[in-house]
Amino acid sequence: MTKTVLITGGAGYIGSHTAFYFSQKGYHPIILDTLIHNQSFDHAWATLLQYDFAERAVLQDIFEQYKPEAVIHCAAEIAVGKSVQQPFCFYENNVSKTISLLDTMLQHNVTNFIFSSSAAIYGDVQLGSIPEEHSKEPVNPYGKTKLMIEMVLQDFQKAYNLNFICLRYFNVAGSLVDHNLHEQHKPETHVLPLLIHAAFEQKPFSIFGNDYDTKDGTCMRDFVHVWDVAHAHWCALQHMQQGNPSDYFNIGSGVGASVRNLIELTSNIAKKEMIIQNSQKRAGDPALLIANVAKAANILKWKPQYSDLHFIIQSAVQSFKKQKE
Ligand code: UFG
Repeated sequence: MTKTVLITGGAGYIGSHTAFYFSQKGYHPIILDTLIHNQSFDHAWATLLQYDFAERAVLQDIFEQYKPEAVIHCAAEIAVGKSVQQPFCFYENNVSKTISLLDTMLQHNVTNFIFSSSAAIYGDVQLGSIPEEHSKEPVNPYGKTKLMIEMVLQDFQKAYNLNFICLRYFNVAGSLVDHNLHEQHKPETHVLPLLIHAAFEQKPFSIFGNDYDTKDGTCMRDFVHVWDVAHAHWCALQHMQQGNPSDYFNIGSGVGASVRNLIELTSNIAKKEMIIQNSQKRAGDPALLIANVAKAANILKWKPQYSDLHFIIQSAVQSFKKQKE
């Protein structure tokens, strides 16, 4: 019988790349996704079930029929800015429904859980490289929801023997162009896709704040290629299946880039001028988020291989062009 994993949000950006990674390793991913971005998902290497991940009856059918070795939980509200304006849907989707998913898993003796956590749990950090044990004081509701689930997981591990790995993604970017997997968010709020729109569609790009305490006044982030992130999920499952304890890992490149760095590189790679304007800071944005990835390298045996920023931007540009063909 073909091995399976259940991937919530598996038709989304990170979920679809992760699903494809598992299919390349001989698994058949079962995807639960409501297609909120109106994206098309038509891939023979996965089974798509278009339902909410908190539908207990659907989960029960999946657990009984496919017997997944793990649940990889990527489905979530993700836009940091929206989380400040509309926190309810973040607490509902990212917290309440996730707890319901965990409860249904446990009722069916599915005990391996890989969680899409986030660098946003750390908050406003002054360090140039954040280790996992750094204090966690999220500055936006999005980060708070991710931290809450990390806390729930610790308690569920102790009380119910749930095994988990939390992958704290930094800024995931790039695409796997040759396999028709792309970054598609509606509305798009992420910096690199917006810069590509600025380059090719002459849409003005706004820098959200230019007086942060960073080298050029703009926020700094750590960009990690989505295929490296997909690989991290694979390493997480191996790690769990070898009987290792539940744990938390930063998943980033370990290298910081400012919004201005990104503008310059994207403009060079696209060979386009852009209309750039300075805007107010976006509420909830920390100045600096850069990963220390030593723990993932030592324990998870994961290292980023495709996360050179030039390569990431090139793959995102190619992805944009391919979608326009
Ligand atoms: N930015 C702009 N202009 C824009 C869009 C973004 O200047 O039009 C800036 C933001 O202010 C921020 C940086 O670009 O400083 C990155 O913003 P994104 O919206 O692309 O990403 P975030 O860092 O806010 O959040 C992303 C993911 C989260 C994840 C986080 C971890 O969306 O899910 O990275 O670092 F938690």
